[in-house]
Amino acid sequence: MTHAATDHDTVRVTPGAIPEAPYDVRIGHGILASLGESVARVLPRKRRNQPAFLVVDDKLPDQIVSTATLSLEAAGFAVTSADVAASETNKTLASATLLLRQLASTRAERTDPVIALGGGMIGDLAGFVAATYKRGVPIIQCPTTLLSMVDASVGGKTAVNIKTDTGLKKNIVGAFWQPTLVLADVAALASLPARTLRAGLAECLKHGLLCATFDIETDLFDWTTTHVRKILAKDAATLRELVTRNVRTKAAVVHTDPHELDPNGGRAILNLGHTYAHAIEPIAQLSPTADPADAPLQHGEAVALGVVAAAHASAALGAFHVEHAELIRAAFAEAGLPTRVRALPSDDALLEAMSHDKKASGGVLRLIALDAPKSGDALGRCRVVNDPPRAAIVAGWDALRG
Ligand code: GLY
Repeated sequence: MTHAATDHDTVRVTPGAIPEAPYDVRIGHGILASLGESVARVLPRKRRNQPAFLVVDDKLPDQIVSTATLSLEAAGFAVTSADVAASETNKTLASATLLLRQLASTRAERTDPVIALGGGMIGDLAGFVAATYKRGVPIIQCPTTLLSMVDASVGGKTAVNIKTDTGLKKNIVGAFWQPTLVLADVAALASLPARTLRAGLAECLKHGLLCATFDIETDLFDWTTTHVRKILAKDAATLRELVTRNVRTKAAVVHTDPHELDPNGGRAILNLGHTYAHAIEPIAQLSPTADPADAPLQHGEAVALGVVAAAHASAALGAFHVEHAELIRAAFAEAGLPTRVRALPSDDALLEAMSHDKKASGGVLRLIALDAPKSGDALGRCRVVNDPPRAAIVAGWDALRG
């Protein structure tokens, strides 16, 4: 255990703009056991019995929660835990208010940490609480799903959803609040359901298709497709390498454009496939399999479909090849992810749903398109196409009908 706790990879994230300080993402097997000492090391002022507010996914195995709690207590923290039902419907201002009340009752000061232990919803909600309590206290992200390890825990996006006259707006309220430390213990993935692991793998494959845009991890797509079996078998060393390579990719993207302000790409490139995914994710009856009981789609499943659609839309734009789009489909299928879906709504309904997407900036639809690799290069270059022709977008939807 002692050896496991010290053996990890570290990726330093430098978000760029002052006052956002660099922070480390530690990736290893069994490193949650060193959470307490890791947190103590990064805090500006460590004092005896310092309050630490642990926000926990209520479905996490007891063993993960007790490892984190005991480690914090051994390092001298007075831990208060809050269990949260980790659903998108619970990612609300009301949930944040409940947590803020609990945090206030611990008499937490500006230097006392909030610690998120769970998947992306827990990280977003706890991050939002940390960003707003006393105008910002340290947030330590301990992601426990593959998706949150490679994406949500890095880059400082925090959020809750609100309902408006036109429906539920996801992540519309939030703040950029960079973590003080991210600790990704790949041992937590052992208890992850296979379907949730595959959904996380969809984001990794997506990273592999955009990394070359940022000159980072340029073989990631090939590496990931070669290692799919080992990843799905939860081979510990492979999972660690997968997470480390993907965090490096995410860190490089965040560094170029921390607040997603670059009109020519930057952080928005991470939304590859999302213009499509966001249009189908809310449709409750869409199933990733032939079995309607598997509905609705998980986010990563919608992203897999969205990336396949974006690849075909890119081919219809003339900048990408249909053979490459089919190669991408085959890679997602090999990972057990959906690449076609039954009972898609009409093109008109789907285009209407896309126009609501937050990436439709200034009324203009923003497609993240793939570029054909130059000879000998791997896939992985993307660019923003504003207001793509309807025919190209529809070609993407057509590719998913099945
Ligand atoms: N998940 C996309 C981003 O962090 O920008």
